Amino acid sequence: MRTVLITGAAQGIGLAMARRFLAGGHAVVASDRLSDGLEQLRADAPDRIAPIVQDVTADSAPEEAVALAVARFGRLDVLVNNAGIGRAKPVGEERDEDLDRFLAVNVRAPLRYTRAALRAMEPGASIVNVASIFGFRGSAGAGVYSVTKAAMVGLTRQMAADYGPEGIRVNAVAPGVTRTAMTADRIDSGEPAFQRLMVNTTPFPRVGTPEDIANGAFFLASEEASFISGHVLVIDGGWLAANAPRN
Ligand SMILES: NC(=O)c1ccc[n+]([C@@H]2O[C@H](COP(=O)([O-])OP(=O)(O)OC[C@H]3O[C@@H](n4cnc5c(N)ncnc54)[C@H](O)[C@@H]3O)[C@@H](O)[C@H]2O)c1
Repeated sequence: MRTVLITGAAQGIGLAMARRFLAGGHAVVASDRLSDGLEQLRADAPDRIAPIVQDVTADSAPEEAVALAVARFGRLDVLVNNAGIGRAKPVGEERDEDLDRFLAVNVRAPLRYTRAALRAMEPGASIVNVASIFGFRGSAGAGVYSVTKAAMVGLTRQMAADYGPEGIRVNAVAPGVTRTAMTADRIDSGEPAFQRLMVNTTPFPRVGTPEDIANGAFFLASEEASFISGHVLVIDGGWLAANAPRN
C-alpha cells in the first residue's frame, strides 16, 4: 500500500483521482478547501482515507498535509498537485490581485507542496502535476491560466532533472476539455466560441471525463511507469495533435 496526497480532491478531476488510487488499494490524503466533497470519500475506504480541509495557498498547508500522511499512514509515496482555478481574462485585462491569485493557487502552491513532500519522500516516490493543453498552446480567453499551466510543464521537467538522481520521478498530466465544475456550464450551454475552439476541434467525439485524467495520473504514479520521468501525458482526445474542426 502506498500513500498518495492529492490536492483539490473534493470534486472533479481530483475526486476521481482519489477514487482511482483508493480503488488501486492505496491510502489517500485528500486535501481541499471544500469539506463536503472530501467527506464522501470516507464511504469508499474509511480505513485508507484521511481528509484535510485546507486552502492550498495557506502558509502551513503543505507541511500539515504531509505531516498527516506520515502520522496516519507512516509514509508519503506520491504527491498529486491537482488543485487549480480557471476562468482567466485576457492578460491585459487582469487586475493585479487576479494575477496574484492565479499564480498563488496554480504555481506557488504546487511548488510549496512539492518542497514539503520531498522532505518525506524516499527513492521510488513520485510526483504528478496537473498541467493543461493550455500549457502548450494559447487560446482565446485562456489568459494567465495558460501561463500558469506552462509553468507546471516547466516545473515538471525541472523537478525531473533535479530529483531523478534521488530516485524520485516527476511527471504531469495535461487534460483537454474535461467535464467538471470548471467547464460543465460552457460545455452544456453550447457557448459558440467554446464549442468551436474546444469541443468541435477535439477529434475524438466526446469531451473528457475526470476518470480519463485520473487513469493517466494513476499510471504515471505506478510501478509500470518506473522509468518515465519528466513526461507530460496529454489526455485530450487528440485536440493538441489535430487542431482542426471535426465537422
Ligand atoms: N476541467 C478541465 O477541462 C481541465 C482541463 C485542463 C486542466 N485542468 C486542471 O485540472 C485540475 C482540476 O480541475 P477540475 O476541472 O477538476 O476543477 P474543479 O473546479 O472541479 O476542481 C478543482 C478543485 O480544486 C479545489 N481548489 C481550488 N482552489 C483551491 C484552494 N485555494 N485551496 C484548496 N483547494 C482548492 C477546489 O475546491 C476543487 O475541489 C486543475 O488544476 C485544472 O486547472 C482541468
